[in-house]
Amino acid sequence: MSTTTTPPPSRLDPEAVPRRDVLGLAAMASAAGACLLALVGMLRMPKAAVLSSPSKKFKAVLPENLAAGEAFVPPGRSVALFRDAAGVHAISTVCTHLGCIIKPNAEGFECPCHGSKFLGDGSVTRGPAPRALPWLKVSHTGGNWIVDEGAPVPPGTKVQA
Ligand code: FES
Repeated sequence: MSTTTTPPPSRLDPEAVPRRDVLGLAAMASAAGACLLALVGMLRMPKAAVLSSPSKKFKAVLPENLAAGEAFVPPGRSVALFRDAAGVHAISTVCTHLGCIIKPNAEGFECPCHGSKFLGDGSVTRGPAPRALPWLKVSHTGGNWIVDEGAPVPPGTKVQA
């Protein structure tokens, strides 16, 4: 009969880590990672996540030589201003089809995207635009024309200086 004996473990052999301890370490590492991500998210919170947009109200200076029925589009705005004997009015230049910016032409406006045409009063003469361009609120305060792109008014609303 022979007996086999296992040699005593060396001091240099790593001690076996029980499975339960490995799972516990993994859970702690996951929790620490989640806390770290939450901390990074909290540090980013004071920064605005959206860009500020310009105010919908703006001051407009009409050109001195603006002819009756001629459109004036202030730079950077999607509004056309008109002046005639009845007063000043503003019409949105955002196409009522899919929102492209329409361009003034001799007859009124034309959309460069799908070819809709509008008269100077905003009414549709050719689709696919489903409805007329909205008229926008204009006021005259302290010698300035103030246009509010976010405030539609009934068509035909004109303001005297
Ligand atoms: S967006 Fe103007 S016609 Fe389509």
